[in-house]
Amino acid sequence: MIMRTHTCGELKGNDLDTSVVLNGWVNTVRLHGQVIFVDLRDRYGKTQIVFNTEDYSGDFEAAKKLSMEDVLSISGTVKARDENAVNPDMSTGEIEVIVSECEVLNEAAPLPFVITDRSSAEEDLRLKYRYLELRTDELQENLTIRHDAYQAVRSYLSGKNFMEVETPVLMKSTPEGARDYLVPSRIHEGKFYALPQSPQIYKQILMIGGFDRYFQIVKCFRDEDLRADRQPEFTQIDVEMSFVAEEDVLTAMEGLTRHVFKEVKGIDLPDPFQRLSYDEAVETYGSDKPDLRFGIELKDVKSITDESEFNAFKSAEMVKAIAVANGGQYSRKIIDEFTEFVKQYGAKGLAWMKAEDGALTGGISKFFSEDLQKEMMEKVGVKDGDIVFLIGDAADVTHTALGALRAEIGKREALADANDFQPVWVTEFPMFHKEDDRFAALHHPFTAPKEEDLDKLNSDPAAVKSRAYDLTMNGYEIAGGSIRNHRPDVQEKIFELLGMNRAEAKARFGFLVEALQYGTPPHGGIAFGFDRLVMLLAGTANIRDVIAFPKTTSAASLMDEAPSAVTKEQLDELHIQTRPTKK
Ligand code: AMO
Repeated sequence: MIMRTHTCGELKGNDLDTSVVLNGWVNTVRLHGQVIFVDLRDRYGKTQIVFNTEDYSGDFEAAKKLSMEDVLSISGTVKARDENAVNPDMSTGEIEVIVSECEVLNEAAPLPFVITDRSSAEEDLRLKYRYLELRTDELQENLTIRHDAYQAVRSYLSGKNFMEVETPVLMKSTPEGARDYLVPSRIHEGKFYALPQSPQIYKQILMIGGFDRYFQIVKCFRDEDLRADRQPEFTQIDVEMSFVAEEDVLTAMEGLTRHVFKEVKGIDLPDPFQRLSYDEAVETYGSDKPDLRFGIELKDVKSITDESEFNAFKSAEMVKAIAVANGGQYSRKIIDEFTEFVKQYGAKGLAWMKAEDGALTGGISKFFSEDLQKEMMEKVGVKDGDIVFLIGDAADVTHTALGALRAEIGKREALADANDFQPVWVTEFPMFHKEDDRFAALHHPFTAPKEEDLDKLNSDPAAVKSRAYDLTMNGYEIAGGSIRNHRPDVQEKIFELLGMNRAEAKARFGFLVEALQYGTPPHGGIAFGFDRLVMLLAGTANIRDVIAFPKTTSAASLMDEAPSAVTKEQLDELHIQTRPTKK
């Protein structure tokens, strides 16, 4: 094989008459009488190469049979293209290479889908042949963005005195909210390692160990239900800092985020980032990760519906409404679809009315007097032509369902500008939420409560606010973190509130509580969902588009067929017996 002298994205007008060797894939083939035009492609671009009977020393008839994705090594001479064939959209658009020799290094079998057109195949087929999909412009671009983002993160944090430290992948099972992936131990019969849901405990211990600024770009593993922005194994930019309070972490991470957007995409993010309290975010947008690229705010209309003749909302804890422009386009059919949509979030139904000539019509409007209609229009900010959607339910259901509808309408109507990035810190989270009548940590059990709420840990745990913060952008939670408990007594109290008795807490986290006793600096940190950050940079809503070898929503890898069965010998060695699930 003759090795390339240039890449396929390199040759320009000033390379004319140079003898070159190019290696690459056949992107397209066009036959023009006795001339064959091939676009040869590699990671760097495409170059038009030309076979003609005069210059080509090889078998011209064989060259006619070149097909897409064959891998070639060609030798030839750089020539200027005819004026009318110059392609300004191609980096090599001024030139072509007249082929003298060609070696087919690998002949491609008939392709399961067309590489130049990703949409020509269902995602499952593309995932099975991921190596082919990786050749597409989109994935080449996305993985380049991902690479640039790694470099930007590392250089920025390292420049700010953060040290990169690796933490174990085989660790003790410690709950962080999701289910663990477990790895059986061969040496210790009946015992298991867990894959880290995050390096949370290790990074706190690194603070105790004196490494006051840590970061790691690290794989995390969570066995949870997957969505468009979730993978069972995903990557975090994990950060922890000592001798800090909230502002220090937020300022440092704004700097990091701005640097990454500027370096990778040339985008200037706002300075400083906007902030919303958790309560503000949920009450105004029905979400703790609101997309602020468009308006549509949730308005409390309980006092108005209570005065109306519409009885279904009378017993509801909360009634909220949103006004959406271009109401005319929402047919019964679409409203029915929306109704089904909000039911997924626990809402019992979706009420609506349309605004025309300064009054409300249709839907539940007949239950509202003229005055109440006016009041409603004013309160919700309804203009003629708008449609109003209302949900009355328990407060959390009303917020979640109407917030989800807001986001859905935003997507459907393309209300958000794809080139607009709206980072928002969400702060003042409640410390706990109720899960099956028990307290669960809203972030994780290592999060510190607000100093002023410490007393409430005993008197009114539900009212305790935490020192947690999330960074959200365009409707995604891209990072989450908190100031931690560096006092062992507070940490123990929280374990207790989470329903862990002393013995249980000791068995699971004893080493951490013990370590907290040996000189622990106040500390806090955060972790970015690196894949989500890259999704935003790459402008895709599908997390699989930014991971080289992703898993499906059922946590399978279609290319290598993981997970797969293993031999009985392997299981025996691990002291494991499987049994089918009883139906
Ligand atoms: P948290 O659980 O919020 O915090 O995770 C941090 C960020 O990781 C991303 N993320 C995911 N991305 C893809 N697929 C998933 N399954 C997935 N789960 C989470 C999100 C999220 O904001 N140890 C704490 C951080 C800390 O307190 O410092 C933690 O892991 O973008």
